[in-house]
Amino acid sequence: MAEKLLEIKNLKQYFNQGKPNEVRAVDDISFDIYKGETLGLVGESGCGKSTTGRTIIRLYDATDGQVIYDGVNVHDKKSKKDLKEFNRKMQMIFQDPYASLNPRMKVLDIIAEGLDIHGLVKNPKERKEKVVELLETVGLNREHADRYAHEFSGGQRQRLGIARALAVNPEFIIADEPISALDVSIQAQVVNLLKELQEEKGLTYLFIAHDLSMVKYISDRIGVMYFGKLVELATAEELYANPMHPYTQSLLSAIPLPDPDYERTRVRKSYDPANHNYQDGEEIAMREVTPGHFVYCSEKELESLRALSSSK
Ligand SMILES: Nc1ncnc2c1ncn2[C@@H]1O[C@H](COP(=O)(O)OP(=O)(O)OP(=O)(O)O)[C@@H](O)[C@H]1O
Ligand SMILES: [Mg+2]
Repeated sequence: MAEKLLEIKNLKQYFNQGKPNEVRAVDDISFDIYKGETLGLVGESGCGKSTTGRTIIRLYDATDGQVIYDGVNVHDKKSKKDLKEFNRKMQMIFQDPYASLNPRMKVLDIIAEGLDIHGLVKNPKERKEKVVELLETVGLNREHADRYAHEFSGGQRQRLGIARALAVNPEFIIADEPISALDVSIQAQVVNLLKELQEEKGLTYLFIAHDLSMVKYISDRIGVMYFGKLVELATAEELYANPMHPYTQSLLSAIPLPDPDYERTRVRKSYDPANHNYQDGEEIAMREVTPGHFVYCSEKELESLRALSSSK
């Protein structure tokens, strides 16, 4: 049985709470992330993926709920030392490699920032050598250390972002659409680099994405979000083979495949939440339909989903 690294319990992140413009960006979601796995998080723009990541890593205080990392609630008040240690263990890679690196700083200083904060190097020579080692780890080299971030291409900048995250020996990395700003030809390179690093260093990833084909390739399990709720969670294979929530089905039906037979019969499904016809007082929750496959549904829907899956 895999070990849990993170437990996210009833997490809520409401912006402008109580005001007319309140946004329930993350609305009571729960899931676990196991050590060494990649959990993909998908859903349409604005459904709360980034907010989930940012709340987990404590860029935001949670409105409610818990994030338990290795048995410790990260949102509890902690000593400065403990907080610093969390900040080291959990790193984030951002969507926009242009906006997330300071263009006026040398690569050496961008990557060494975490080393300095956490006192991981003793002198300038060691600092430089460590940065060069990190550059080489992400497929760049020594010459790059003295250049400025604006001198790099998108794919190279994302490599710098990865090197910066790796500098402090993290255990857990939240990659928030790390490839969506990149050319398709470069996307696979960056994803492969992340995979290699994971194997080498035993990293755990939360991988946020729009691109469902890439997320299937990199993820062990996938969670689907819709308007602040997690609506389905299963292994990548299972989710693609047996999507159960109608929203997941609509997401998958939108992906074209390079298979003419499939394309001829592919029907684009749309999702209308009103079709659930939930009654007042009916409890809608994440329920385990088959082992490890969770769907946000009512008790009644659970019964029919189970009946459907056993008839297959
Ligand atoms: N700081 C903020 N203040 C107020 N509302 C916010 C803030 N950040 C995000 N939101 C709102 O919360 C919701 C979720 O946003 P979030 O950025 O998490 O979505 P996302 O799934 O990451 O979307 P995308 O795929 O476009 O990156 C949106 O309605 C957004 O407008
Ligand atoms: Mg986002």
